[in-house]
This record gives sequence, C-alpha cells and structure tokens, in this order.
Amino acid sequence: MTVTRILTGITTSGTPHLGNYVGAIRPAVAASRTPGSQNFYFLADLHALIKVQDPAKVQRSTLEIAASWLACGLQPDNDRVWFYRQSDIHEIPELTWFLTCVASKGLLNRAHAYKAAVDRNRAEGLEDQEDHGITAGLFMYPVLMAADIMIFNAHKVPVGRDQIQHIEMARDFAQRFNHLYGDHFVLPEAMIEEHVATLPGLDGRKMSKSYDNTIPLFAPRDQLKKLIFSIVTDSRMPGEAKDTEGSALFQLYQAFASAEETEAMRAAFADGIGWGDAKQRLFERVDAEIAPLRDRYETLMAKPALIEQQLLDGARTARERLGTPFMRQLREAVGLRNLSKMPAEADSTREKSATLPAFKQYRERDGKFYFKLVDGDAVLLQSAGFESPKDAGKAIAMLRKYPGDAEFAVTSRNDAVFALRDSTGHEYAWGFASSEAVRAALARLAEAEAAP
Ligand code: TRP
Repeated sequence: MTVTRILTGITTSGTPHLGNYVGAIRPAVAASRTPGSQNFYFLADLHALIKVQDPAKVQRSTLEIAASWLACGLQPDNDRVWFYRQSDIHEIPELTWFLTCVASKGLLNRAHAYKAAVDRNRAEGLEDQEDHGITAGLFMYPVLMAADIMIFNAHKVPVGRDQIQHIEMARDFAQRFNHLYGDHFVLPEAMIEEHVATLPGLDGRKMSKSYDNTIPLFAPRDQLKKLIFSIVTDSRMPGEAKDTEGSALFQLYQAFASAEETEAMRAAFADGIGWGDAKQRLFERVDAEIAPLRDRYETLMAKPALIEQQLLDGARTARERLGTPFMRQLREAVGLRNLSKMPAEADSTREKSATLPAFKQYRERDGKFYFKLVDGDAVLLQSAGFESPKDAGKAIAMLRKYPGDAEFAVTSRNDAVFALRDSTGHEYAWGFASSEAVRAALARLAEAEAAP
C-alpha cells in the first residue's frame, strides 16, 4: 500500500482573488490537513512564462501567490506537505523532454488552449497563418504540465474542469512511456471538487481576471467594502422580496457563511432586506474570515526572504527524496547510461544479467552502518542507520529471503514511496521505486543466485 500523492500547480500570472480562494486555496489547505496523503503544491512559474513576458510581474505574482497560500494556512513540512517553485525542480524540464519524445503531436494539436488560439486566427481571416502569434511554449503547455505531475508520480490532481483534458494527455504520455520503457509512471487522475462553487464576480458572471470582475483576496478593508458595494443587483426597493436564485450577492454570501447563516440571509431576502443592508452583511461576513488571513499575508509580504527560503527548502527536499532518484531511474530506463557499464553484447538477456541488482553496504560519517539496493544507477532501497555491520547484514539477509519472509511488511512512509518495517514496527529501509520494482529486483537477484 502506497500513500496517495495529491499534486496541484498554480500559475503565477496574477494576484489571487476571492474566486481562487474559495475554489482552490481553501479546499487545498483543508485537504492538506487530512492524514493519509502526501501533498504537493507548487508555483507554476515556468507555465507563467507562456503568458507573462514581464519579468517584474512574474516575480511579483510568484511572491503574492506564495504569501497567499501560506497566509491561508498551508503548512509545508517537507514530509507530508510540500510547497515549492516549479522552476527550482530541475528534473521537470528534463522530464518534459523525455515526454516530448513520446507525445503525439496530433494529440497536442487538439489541446483546447492551442485550438482556441488557432480558431481566433482563423476567425480573423488569417487562414494561411493559423499559427500566427502562437508560441511553441503554448503548444507544449500540456507536456510541461504532465512532467509536473509525473516527476512525483502523483495519483490525484485537483483541478478545474478546464484542465481535465490536460490530465488525460498526461495519462496518455505516461502510458506511451510505460509501454516503451517499463512501468515507471502512475496514471494520474483529475480530481474535480463537485461541491466547490464557482464564485460569481462583481457583474454576476464567473469571477475571472479575464472579465475584470474580481475582488482581490487581500484587498485592504476599505477597498473590499467598496468592491462589495459595487456588486450588481436588481432595482428592487427595500421592503420588496428578493430572489436568492441567480443573485451574485447571495452566492458570495453562501460561499463564506455557515448553513444557518445562509438560511438567515435567505429569510432576509424573502423579507425584503434592502440591497445596502445585504451588502453590509456580506462585507462583514467576508471580512470576518479574511481579516486574520490578511494580517498574516501582510506580515509575510514584509519578509520575502523567509518565503524564498521556505520554497527553496521545499524544492531541495522534494528533489533529494523523490525527484532526483526517480530521474536517475528514468535516465537509465531510456538508455542515458553510464558508458563504463556497457553490456557485453546488445543481447537483452545479457543486458539484464550485466545490471543485476546488488546490495551495497557502507558506513557513514555518523558512524552507523547502512545499505542500499541498487539497480544500475538507480537506488531502489535506502536503509536507516544500523549500530553494527552485523545488524545491517541481518536486514539484508531478511530481504534476500523475500518473498518467503513474513516480516517484510510493505507499508507507507511519507518521504519515500514506501517503507519496510521489521517485526517490532521499526522502519529500517525506504523504497524510492515502486514496491513492484523492488519486488522484481529482489526476485531477479534470488533467481540469479539460485542459478548454477
Ligand atoms: N494548468 C494549471 C492551471 O492553469 C496550472 C498547472 C500547471 C497545474 N502545472 C500543473 C495544475 C500540474 C495541476 C498539475 O490551472
């Protein structure tokens, strides 16, 4: 049993608004607190470069979004919850290329964002130049996104409906890669939050930067009030009953209020509350939730160096524990290999025996004794420290007996793919490949040793 890995990215191309808060930040922060999952949240700044070519804006937006998520309660611990910047994970562009080489161009031609740009050119009569003004970056968007997901082999990807096609493409690339090179990738699934409302904006349409109808998440109190008072309503007078159905004001209220508060507001609408009073109540309710977050946000924005360090730590640990060993395994899989370890002949059965998995024992500077199970350049297992070489040897012997040994318990641990525990429940080694890959390597080793 492995942990469920949940991953999502936020493009750093703007300032968060209430719609982002209700639709993405608030549910993600809540989800990150439920046990039994490993969570990866990242700032998709490489994706931002596709849309935003103003360097100051990219930097500003990255800071604002990072501070917003932290202010809203995200607590990265670099074990169960990771928060990092996409561009700090150097394996992502490398994996993007591996995936580019298996991605079907025809599939990419059908990506919504690219197709919409082509359709706009056609509509403008640019028949013979339908790719006018379209960068290869926009075209490759889904491949970069697949690499974001696949570098940590995420199982679930919470996204908006508009992103479902991208997740399906990621599955397609994963399948093609697995077919060619062996089972390296999990097939990711989109996770759509059915009950999370899309928030209406000031004009009643969906709150979105492109409609210019947003309420910035951390607008100062007086600006928040002004914006809320500018929400479009109908011309009914105080005393006249009002419809909750289709009322942007009511929907906004509902997104922040408890069930009881919502019912009280519904009654007030029926009783003919004046729009001014209703707006005041909405303002008070939103501000009650946002004000403490706004204070934290301002404190964080005043200390960008702390945020920078937190993001760097997130990226470093995620790479060390997961990204770098996984990329090593993938490089090996596609044939980007150490030339001094050439198989004697290009015969596949020989190639296997030339790269037989092996246990390596060593001593660290902490004075303890360790072992690794390696397959070529890939580290499949990494042990904890043992007091003596004999203890380390015993653990190896136990593994070699696998699968006959019942004490070989595969359970989950957060910073690796899985953990091995002894009969006392003590974790003595962690797996950095899938448990199937480790099982297969141990079986090959046992088989080779049994052979005459
Ligand atoms: N494309 C996503 C969006 O615009 C952002 C994103 C980039 C993302 N990489 C991702 C989301 C990986 C989920 C997983 O919303």
